[in-house]
Amino acid sequence: MSILQTLLETASRFVPDDKPDPLIGGQVFVGRAIDRVDGAAKVTGGARFSAEHPIENLVHAEPVFSSISKGKVTHLDLSAAKAHPGVIAVITPEDMPRLKPPSLFSLLKPDKFAASNLPIFQDNRVYWNGQVIALVIAETHEQAQEAASLVRAQYEVESPASSFESGKAKATMPKDILGEPPEVKIGDAELNLATAAVRIDAIYKSPYYSHCALEPHASIALWDEGKLTVLDSTQHVSGYKLSLAQVFGIDPDSIRVIAPFVGGGFGGKAGFWWNTVLAVAAAKIVQRPVKLALSREGVFRTVGGRTIAEQRVALGATRDGHLTSLIQGCITVTPSHARYAEQCTFPARHLYTADAIHLSQHVVDLDMVANTWMRAPGESIGTFALESALDELAIELQMDPVDLRRNNEPNRDPTKGTEFSSRRLIEAYSLGASAFEWKSRNPVPCSQRDGSWLIGQGVATAYYPAIRIPGSARVRVESDGRAKVFVAANEMGMGVATTQLQHAADRLGLPLPHVEFQYGDSSLPSSPMAGGSCQTLSILAAVRSAIEKLQRELLKLEQRDSESVLKAAKYEDLLALNSGLYLASDTSRGVTIAEILRKADLPFLEAEATSSLPVETLKYSMASYGAQFCEVRVNDSTGETRVSRWVGAFDCGTILNPKTATSQLQGGIVMGIGMALTEEVLFDERSGRIMNPSLAEYHVPVHLDVPHIDIHFCGIPDPHTPLGARGIGEIGITGVAAAIANAIYNATGKRIQSLPITLDKLM
Ligand code: MOS
Repeated sequence: MSILQTLLETASRFVPDDKPDPLIGGQVFVGRAIDRVDGAAKVTGGARFSAEHPIENLVHAEPVFSSISKGKVTHLDLSAAKAHPGVIAVITPEDMPRLKPPSLFSLLKPDKFAASNLPIFQDNRVYWNGQVIALVIAETHEQAQEAASLVRAQYEVESPASSFESGKAKATMPKDILGEPPEVKIGDAELNLATAAVRIDAIYKSPYYSHCALEPHASIALWDEGKLTVLDSTQHVSGYKLSLAQVFGIDPDSIRVIAPFVGGGFGGKAGFWWNTVLAVAAAKIVQRPVKLALSREGVFRTVGGRTIAEQRVALGATRDGHLTSLIQGCITVTPSHARYAEQCTFPARHLYTADAIHLSQHVVDLDMVANTWMRAPGESIGTFALESALDELAIELQMDPVDLRRNNEPNRDPTKGTEFSSRRLIEAYSLGASAFEWKSRNPVPCSQRDGSWLIGQGVATAYYPAIRIPGSARVRVESDGRAKVFVAANEMGMGVATTQLQHAADRLGLPLPHVEFQYGDSSLPSSPMAGGSCQTLSILAAVRSAIEKLQRELLKLEQRDSESVLKAAKYEDLLALNSGLYLASDTSRGVTIAEILRKADLPFLEAEATSSLPVETLKYSMASYGAQFCEVRVNDSTGETRVSRWVGAFDCGTILNPKTATSQLQGGIVMGIGMALTEEVLFDERSGRIMNPSLAEYHVPVHLDVPHIDIHFCGIPDPHTPLGARGIGEIGITGVAAAIANAIYNATGKRIQSLPITLDKLM
């Protein structure tokens, strides 16, 4: 049993059975397509990213990157850089304060989330091609950039391991994958495969991908009498505070990390990376505020992305489409300083019944930048392999691929054996199939043509687990009837500032404009990272705890009044509405919050609380599900693929705000289109160097690449989560590449098993 499971099971003995959130079904603002509260600020330039804050006396940092993958820097010629106008310092590891190495990610430990545990810029060792080997500080960014280009390095080169193909032979099984076993075995899957009436056995490949968030990573670090303030483009202000404290060996209370607006992250800003540490150290060394705004190339070189992967999926089935064998074996890359096996087999652990199951993962250790979370790490590429294979099996069976999935729908979690908290995958398929008019498609490849364009349709399952991490929140109600909610929370474009307002207004029974949400600042009660699609749910739980505590205190205050209509009421008898607390049995009887505070002669009342451990995720199999339907047009002479139609139907529990939720899912699908068709980081395998570190040569989808994306929601509340909601941030990208590959097969009769599906593969 993992440490996490032991911990959760111990805790579960102290936590009463989870009852559905009483607010489910009673919402006023939750569920409405409310405009983003920060929308106007964003489109008018009022919302500033980290690098855009005007700071007095600011200097600029520019890194120099190693051009080798492994070895030592034996000499740095800094003379030309130092002589360049405007240069203040050229910092090397010798100038650095001694720092402790950061700790690798550990679930439920908010200070442990680095993608790499290498010492940061502490010696002359080189671990990957692109690692920072010097840092130029100058009066302007242009001067720093020019001077950085003048630094000359000499190396003692060691031969790096940079080839996935050669590394595969030495792949090892990781100790665990996010606390779960690396291998799951039920029955004899190989035997069942060998004896199956129909079988598929194939290898699926995918390249290294980079997040390419709109805003490249940036930090401004300011020291003031031992106090540190960092404006940082992070997905985790609370964690960055704790990690900086750990690395620099200083008191966390002397550190403040601020990130009100982040221009996307997709996981690339969730781990603890070098750039922030370098800015903080540089500001200490030059004794001026330092801005380190990475160039696009700088992000490619110093922040890791999604692993290269090779996956075998083998499926055995009866003639009537019942799975007798489900095998998925994944090989991914993780350097020894990262130790992160991306969870490719997680979807297969929970999606389908099969008589025998064998799921396993292995990792290859290469000398490269640490791989990291990138939107649905593991699940995105895992579903590419699994859902492509399901389609291939459906074709072998001459069965509709939707029916094949219906045939193998489990009623309990197929590998954990636990009950589903709520699972509406089949409903999502029905919803999507009818919106897409799936019934009218022709299953015969090459049967639909428009001039030189072959047309095809494909479908795949989307899956992402529901994760919740404990966090804290503070809520204040004021005598004028207004309320403020304080959570460290990170807003990188997903709409957290808007949906949390909707939640707090409903939970408190207040009009929306009377509630304010303060976030993006590590001095506020700590919250988990905006990652793992868990931030919204985690904050909902924390805010719910804080509001319940506050309301109980309000009731106690009110009951000091012997005349009160709530004199005999218990907390459970009350509803929060009309800016007050009212009897559920007679909602005309109650009292406003303002009135309670006035009688108690209090200007305001506050409560802070921390949410419970996520024991529900142990007790139940909890996840969001979806069905991705798409149509592609493939040019029969150039191999060009255009995605022409998309319908995604999702079961993510209660949808807090259909507008922001639709946008999240559309964003995930757009990112999946890039993953399927155009995105690929190219390595020179001799040197391990990234050869296309720019958006000119790493093609993310642009408007012309994306059709209208039609999103539908089942909208059925999950009885075991706050408000019945589950995460939506990552599920959108899952299943996308498979749906596209399946549609391309339907259009052309060509089965492409390696991503991205570029023109050459279709010629
Ligand atoms: Mo997400 S890949 O956990 O930001």
